[in-house]
Amino acid sequence: MSAPAPVPPPSLPAPIGLLAELTHRCPLGCPYCSNPLELDGREGELGTDDWRRVFSQAAALGVMQVHLSGGEPAARRDLVDMVAHCAAVGLYTNLITSGIGLTPKLVAALSEAGLDHVQLSIQDADEDSADRIAGYRGASARKREVAAEVVRAGLPLTVNAVIHRANVSRAGAVLERAIAWGARRVEIAHAQYYGWARRNRAALMPTRAEAVAAIGEIERLKAAHAGTIVVDHVIPDYHARYPKACMGGWGRRLINVTPTGRVLPCHAAESIPGLEFWTVRDRALGDIWADSPAFRAYRGTDWMVEPCRSCPRKGVDFGGCRCQALALTGDARNADPVCHLSPFHDRVDTIVLAETEGPAAAYAYRGRSPADASIDRS
Ligand code: SF4
Ligand code: FES
Repeated sequence: MSAPAPVPPPSLPAPIGLLAELTHRCPLGCPYCSNPLELDGREGELGTDDWRRVFSQAAALGVMQVHLSGGEPAARRDLVDMVAHCAAVGLYTNLITSGIGLTPKLVAALSEAGLDHVQLSIQDADEDSADRIAGYRGASARKREVAAEVVRAGLPLTVNAVIHRANVSRAGAVLERAIAWGARRVEIAHAQYYGWARRNRAALMPTRAEAVAAIGEIERLKAAHAGTIVVDHVIPDYHARYPKACMGGWGRRLINVTPTGRVLPCHAAESIPGLEFWTVRDRALGDIWADSPAFRAYRGTDWMVEPCRSCPRKGVDFGGCRCQALALTGDARNADPVCHLSPFHDRVDTIVLAETEGPAAAYAYRGRSPADASIDRS
């Protein structure tokens, strides 16, 4: 086993969570995918020993939770080994999965290896619509079976769904489906327009009236089902007054490792030009967390410009999302323009109106690499 990672200086708290993007390979083609336009290929992926080293270093650094994600993490043949290693070094493991490729045998093996939690995505409460959104016929029925398998194995299940134009009228039905499937928690998040999703913004964005109606319905059901299921409701920030503290603040709580080992402060950080990302192939995770130029670029509040610089909320939302600020204003240092105090806020209203008038555009589905054929779809 490798040497433990150096601990960061006392003024810098350890990250709470690590998002391990084990692979970008995925059987689905969701138009709202937040992974980057250029996906990492299978040939460049970190090997099992690399990931074991990363997980050991994460535990030594103070990370508590590892989110095993992708793409579809079940596309990795060594998934059970990775879960077992995380359990051995004391990390809580959450598998973020589409469910495709998760056979009953694999669920049992993961449970046996010490997996703590499963987060299963669904695309809609209507199965035909769900398959259309995923670009995969039969996906929804398969997910239903996987949910039953996870519950049977005694693993806590969270169902998560991304809400957008095609399913916004059934947001409440999605929540009820999660209850019917035995989930203890449901995460309902309105689409964010990063990565591939940015390309589909005109196909995905609901009108303001649709979004407001969905928010009301979910909040009503959240109250009605309190005690039955925990509802995590992430409201669409295009319709909010203040931005969210994206990633809990840049370089404050979370660390993201890509399939090839680059370490990012957020999953979309590579969209910001000029940032230098270090890799776990060359350096220890603790060094990267403390000193990587990309993590230092927007950590804290010293980098801020007005109106954030003198705003009393700057330690609450950290100026919102750097990637969204860049995408909509051209400068990642600006306040996230979803903030009503941003001088660029009118751009958000203009986009909502422009993208939602007229019929929805056709989806651009994610392409699939030949390597995806390796995923067991039985
Ligand atoms: Fe947050 Fe900046 Fe808006 Fe203040 S001005 S609420 S810090 S985004
Ligand atoms: Fe990068 Fe929000 S997605 S900071």
